[in-house]
Amino acid sequence: MPRPILATIHTAALRHNLARMRQSAQDAKVWAVVKANAYGHGIERVFDGLRGADGFALLDLAEAERVRALGWRGPILLLEGVFEPRDLELCSRLGLWHAVHCDEQIDMLSSHKTHVPHRVFLKMNSGMNRLGFTPGRYRAAWARLNALPQVDEVSFMTHFSDADAPRGIAHQLAAFEAATQDLPGERSVSNSAAVLRHADDSRVRADWVRPGIVLYGGVPDFPEHGAAHWGLQPTMTLASKIIAVQDLPVGGTVGYGSLFTAEQALRIGIVACGYADGYPRHCSTGAPVLVDGVRTRLVGRVSMDMLVVDLTPVPQAGFGSDVTLWGRASAEHGGALLSIDEVAQAAGTVGYELMCAVAPRVPVTTD
Ligand SMILES: Cc1ncc(COP(=O)(O)O)c(C=O)c1O
Repeated sequence: MPRPILATIHTAALRHNLARMRQSAQDAKVWAVVKANAYGHGIERVFDGLRGADGFALLDLAEAERVRALGWRGPILLLEGVFEPRDLELCSRLGLWHAVHCDEQIDMLSSHKTHVPHRVFLKMNSGMNRLGFTPGRYRAAWARLNALPQVDEVSFMTHFSDADAPRGIAHQLAAFEAATQDLPGERSVSNSAAVLRHADDSRVRADWVRPGIVLYGGVPDFPEHGAAHWGLQPTMTLASKIIAVQDLPVGGTVGYGSLFTAEQALRIGIVACGYADGYPRHCSTGAPVLVDGVRTRLVGRVSMDMLVVDLTPVPQAGFGSDVTLWGRASAEHGGALLSIDEVAQAAGTVGYELMCAVAPRVPVTTD
């Protein structure tokens, strides 16, 4: 018997979240961002749910090959462009569109031999200070790119640092606008948070939006808002079972370091899930967990293969009871929801990290 842990990817929820994005993005074309193996879900597992997108955006050439191998003939965008000259050969062969964010990438393109000119997205560093040409250097980069026979159409992109936060996007949008306003070509500026929070501004919706986290039901501006507020559904459930029960007397402690001490007698359940499965070790007493669809709390320290839950709110639970670490409990347990953002918050991180960190040893299925 394998350990009773299982991750399930929900295809209908992916489809729902994509439709929700389209609703906010209106006429914009949608890149489904599937980098990092579709935010830990698995590219092959999300493909069916996200094939209604206009294109797939990612940054690993091997992942682009996987999308093509699934039969996708539409646009694929390499968000970080190429890393070395021979990557351009694969771009030509697979018909990949790619970001261009630095002079070295233009140099590589200028000596690339191809019969089919490439579609490129010239990236501006409008304030994030990771990738891209600063506004002052942007037009010169555009002129250089535009003159290359290896280049077909040039589009324009930038990335927001604070679309989910009070600082907002106006300062970056203004820099982007000023440097590109009279340049012909399509634009792409918005991640999930920009589309959800700023879509009343038509510049945010032009021409391609690039949502990632919302497609996977994660909330970019949690805890200010929750999934219900934005109408998002969880696309990943991490579930396990109780494999042992202990009765703790008053003063009894739990796990390594005895971090939890019972102030009253307590039944606890031992769950087959630990940090080697990708559950965050930074979660401690109080982190939310569902047992048979009922909300309870983690107690003590998460260990490699196990964690411990308080069974007080679920007295009928015992050996073999169902545990939902995040996502959706089974219909038998009312389909109760536990947001990955909430668990992430208890660990001092974000839902993105938890999704991406589910360990290879965890079996994954789709429904
Ligand atoms: C360039 C770019 N566009 C879009 C996204 C999608 O962001 P999010 O998952 O917040 O929607 C990312 C992710 O970090 C990104 O790097």
